[in-house]
Amino acid sequence: MKFGYFDDANREYVITTPKTPLPWINYLGCNDFFSLVSNTCGGYSFYKDAKLLRLTRYRYNNVPADNNGKYYYIKDGDTVWNIGWQPSKTVLDSYECRHGMGYSRFTSAKNGVKAENLAFVPMNDTCEINRVILTNESDTKKELSLFSYVEWCLWNADDDSRNFQRNFSTGEVEVIDSTIYHKTEYRERRNHYAVFSVNSPIDGFDTQRESFLGAYRDNSNPEAVENGKCTDSVAHGWSPVAVHQINVTLEPGESKSFIFVLGYCENPVDDKWESKNVIKKTPSDKLLAKYKTDDDVDKAFKELKDYWTGLLSIFTLESNNDKVNRMVNIWNQYQCMVTFNMSRSASYYESGIGRGMGFRDSNQDLLGFVHLIPERARERIIDIASTQFRNGSAYHQYQPLTKRGNSDIGSGFNDDPLWLIAGVSAYVRETGDISILKENVPYDNDMSVATTLMEHLKRSFDFTVNNKGPHGLPLIGRADWNDCLNLNCFSEHPGESFQCFGPSEGPVAESVFIAGMFVKYGEEYAQLAELLGDDAEAKRARKEVKIMYDAVLKDGWDGDWFVRAYDAYSNKIGSKECEEGKIFIESNGFCSLAGIGVKEGLAKKALDSVKEHLDCEYGVMILQPAYTVYHLELGEITSYPPGYKENAGIFCHNNPWVSIAETVIGRGDRAFEIYKKTCPAYTEEISEIHKTEPYVYCQMVAGADAYIPGEGKNSWLTGTAAWTFCNISQYILGVYPTHKGLRVDPCVPHGFGDFKITRKFRGATYTINVKNPSDVEKGVKAMTVDGKKVSGNVIPYEEGKKEYAVEIVMG
Ligand code: GLC
Ligand code: GLC
Repeated sequence: MKFGYFDDANREYVITTPKTPLPWINYLGCNDFFSLVSNTCGGYSFYKDAKLLRLTRYRYNNVPADNNGKYYYIKDGDTVWNIGWQPSKTVLDSYECRHGMGYSRFTSAKNGVKAENLAFVPMNDTCEINRVILTNESDTKKELSLFSYVEWCLWNADDDSRNFQRNFSTGEVEVIDSTIYHKTEYRERRNHYAVFSVNSPIDGFDTQRESFLGAYRDNSNPEAVENGKCTDSVAHGWSPVAVHQINVTLEPGESKSFIFVLGYCENPVDDKWESKNVIKKTPSDKLLAKYKTDDDVDKAFKELKDYWTGLLSIFTLESNNDKVNRMVNIWNQYQCMVTFNMSRSASYYESGIGRGMGFRDSNQDLLGFVHLIPERARERIIDIASTQFRNGSAYHQYQPLTKRGNSDIGSGFNDDPLWLIAGVSAYVRETGDISILKENVPYDNDMSVATTLMEHLKRSFDFTVNNKGPHGLPLIGRADWNDCLNLNCFSEHPGESFQCFGPSEGPVAESVFIAGMFVKYGEEYAQLAELLGDDAEAKRARKEVKIMYDAVLKDGWDGDWFVRAYDAYSNKIGSKECEEGKIFIESNGFCSLAGIGVKEGLAKKALDSVKEHLDCEYGVMILQPAYTVYHLELGEITSYPPGYKENAGIFCHNNPWVSIAETVIGRGDRAFEIYKKTCPAYTEEISEIHKTEPYVYCQMVAGADAYIPGEGKNSWLTGTAAWTFCNISQYILGVYPTHKGLRVDPCVPHGFGDFKITRKFRGATYTINVKNPSDVEKGVKAMTVDGKKVSGNVIPYEEGKKEYAVEIVMG
């Protein structure tokens, strides 16, 4: 069952009922100012950091769900309704929500009044615009009142939700004409404030929440709206809000538009007052002056649309498969931008006050983003690498505002260092910019011990070399990619963090998954060394990679698949010897995609085992059989009920690893079958089961052991976005950036047909026509570039050349 449809021409998903199975959200903002917005106008806004600089309040875990947003109430006689249905939930005569690239547009109607709200964050300003247009579609005159409503968050969202003894006394606002200024804590250590303004005179306002709502009432039915009259309250402490009241008369057929701006403004620390305790308005005056007329809004909106048209022209696909076209050309890349911006910080499942930017997460997010805006990827790489420790290990997370490593969680996740190589290699392959490798980068933000980025990578690489266990496999530390496989933790008390409790390292627990990573990224490291002319280092690296490869074949192979790990007693995990958790996806996917056991025929065997044991209708499960009891020696993974999350859920993130591994051994049918199972454009059909947004990936889909298999959770912020984009663009469609130029090596399912890719790469545009006359899964028989036959399948890169016309014949 569907709750909407794709409008590909407009790059929108159109939701046709407010009652989606879960809130279906969108992200506004591309740079520093962000808003989450749901299909019922729920959500919140923040500047740079969802924890430290949150503008508006949201209540996770609330009843009813998805409460608080930017709401517009329309009072028409005795009827009160909202453009996005919530919070009044008055039944609407029509409703539509269009989530597009960086904007959402709501259109609804009630009793002959049509209302539209276009919400977006303009390209280079720190604000969100809501343009509300009211139209009288009836044949009688309408006397309406329009009320806006946002609830201010007292900046630090963590403190805001628990420090009530202080916070109930600190709230302060100013109201001047149609602008409400939120200035809590401005008198002391802040030099920033927020504004909520409208481009029209107002007939009333409220800034004290309970004055507007009425005592013991909620925002579904504010007393002031019911009365048709705001109270002009000025908040002192308690919970400041911003409400404008505008009385509107509309003749039949008449429309009026109102431009609301919610903005973040900063003053210089030593020049922040206009007069005693009155904030200096220069930055907000400047901001608000930019968005006064419909033309201003149209212009800013066009800029945003053009921006996305530009970004989405970097990689485009024309194939016979509409679903794949739509994911590749629009939604998958869009989600890659969002995960790049947010890492795992703010979504409807990530509270914005927990994790900031993850070291491993952000490096992986780069993989699907780097082609879009390489300069931003470059900056991000330097930020991430700056939180690395001198011994090559890394803070697991850092805060986006301060860019400092988060010492609460610390380090000890032994896969982290290698992901830095993955991110940097992707950047250099995309851009050819080797200057980044020579960039001076601090350790733990300490510039006095800075070295080149290449030296950081060396320390990443050597961290694995220097931290091996009894089988010559990498020590796992607190966990590897699977945060929940905590082999050195042994936690017995609720509330202890599985990751941070217990010693961060043990002498023997080892990860076969990290071994697979080391083989893959060790080779990529060697190639970077070669680029810098350091053949000796490349040789050394390859020698170490070979040693690891052999160690995996010797002690990481279980007969039919790769072992997952060795625990603190040196017992196998993910082996026939185990009662539960006999086979895991990660080691099988990653070792195979790294090429381990390909020539020996073991990768094929491993992938056949994955199909046999881990496949289910909705995707490839992370492990089987599910753990049914808690194992002290395995940690959080066994804390989840069977079928959920890391305990036998379908963890979408590593499905593409298996799909990529299938392309490595040339099985296009199977690679695509896996791609399809978790692909939103395909699961759209079963939205009533899947529940999360049908235009983006979610982190987890419940596995076969779950109560409701196929039910998705934790949408948007997942490494699935980046990995799937790599999978489809670089392995299935097969356009992979190498240091020497683009390689074209598709691996497609039978019947996929011919296709065309346009790819912008290092300043040139490549038009790549792929023909598949014999309908094969893999293999390039012939390639011509600008009509000339070229041997192999790497398009030779020529400095300065602007256009490449490439013909590929598979066979
Ligand atoms: C979450 C984390 C990611 C981890 C994965 C598996 O998605 O963000 O870092 O790899 O879970 O545990
Ligand atoms: C993984 C899990 C997530 C958990 C985190 C820390 O990322 O997917 O649910 O919160 O590990 O335990």
